[in-house]
Amino acid sequence: MSLPYLNQIVCGDSALLLREFPSNSVDLVITSPPYYKQRDYGGGIGNEATPHAYLEVLLHIFGECVRVTKPTGSLVFNLGDKYEESSLLLMPYRFAIAATERFPVKLVNAVTWVKSNPTPRQFQRRLVSSTEPFFHFVKSDQYKYFPESFLADDEPADQEIDSSHRNIGRRYFSLIERSELTEQQKAIARAALEAVIEEVRSGAIQGFRMKIRGIHSEPFGGQEGGRKIQLERNGFTIIRIHGNRLKRDVITAPVESVKGNPHPAIYPVKIVEQFIRLLTQPEDVVLDPFAGSGSTALAALKTGRHFICIDINEAYCAYARERLQNFTFTRNLFELHSESI
Ligand SMILES: C[S@@+](CC[C@H](N)C(=O)[O-])C[C@H]1O[C@@H](n2cnc3c(N)ncnc32)[C@H](O)[C@@H]1O
Repeated sequence: MSLPYLNQIVCGDSALLLREFPSNSVDLVITSPPYYKQRDYGGGIGNEATPHAYLEVLLHIFGECVRVTKPTGSLVFNLGDKYEESSLLLMPYRFAIAATERFPVKLVNAVTWVKSNPTPRQFQRRLVSSTEPFFHFVKSDQYKYFPESFLADDEPADQEIDSSHRNIGRRYFSLIERSELTEQQKAIARAALEAVIEEVRSGAIQGFRMKIRGIHSEPFGGQEGGRKIQLERNGFTIIRIHGNRLKRDVITAPVESVKGNPHPAIYPVKIVEQFIRLLTQPEDVVLDPFAGSGSTALAALKTGRHFICIDINEAYCAYARERLQNFTFTRNLFELHSESI
């Protein structure tokens, strides 16, 4: 199937250009549309008179995105919120609810982007907003999914995992001593702890957590019922973590500032890269209908995927093309250099 504008930054209105695309033709739509009444990008959507009017134009383009996405594909939309008269409008969630009500999509996750460097503003009577959702929608349960590639090189999650294994589980020994367990139970708990630490060191398991009666909260029942019995009978229970670490619906990344970038609201290439790895394979096609400075195109190039990027603002399109050229130039230079040494 031939796709228009493959590996191009196209200047135009997505509401019109998307009509040229065949149905079921792209693998991933990932984008950050203009937020409601946040900025003036010199045209396009975002400054409609009411939240309702904004949602209508955004949902129209979302509907086209759903149409062009393959049944095995995904759509990831990042949206920010807006205060009006000191009250949060909850625009991202209004959008997500309307999207699932109006179109044949399921909402798989609302992944939270935690901004490690939020705008340092002090408000008298509210806290600084430092998160934004990335909504992951799918058209069918057969969507492509590669969790082993997601956050593969990220910080360890909140588990008893320590790659050096030097300090693994050590803190539990002092918790056992402080606990209300009998001396005999403490001796058994220490032995069980030594054994599970050895399992981690030998690579048999990825990690573990220990719960000790009187120290940690008790499981409620249901699937946790067995653990509750162990806690009552032995005074402790050990949860073994097999395979990969937990893949949580949170990504921490700074708000990017790229030197010379004229765009006022870019999203982190790192986050886009993670979604591309999670939801597509090399050579798949990634579409961004609100491409701005071309962060999606850059992430696609870095991960070996094709891209189609549309933005209504000619200056942003020109900058995005320049950004890609610089990246390709530097990469080619690097490859040339590596080959010659
Ligand atoms: C939040 S910005 C996207 C920023 C981008 N993710 C980046 O990292 O640079 C939204 C973009 O949507 C564009 N836009 C607004 N309405 C549009 C429309 N109808 N068709 C295409 N682009 C549009 C704006 O020009 C703006 O650059």
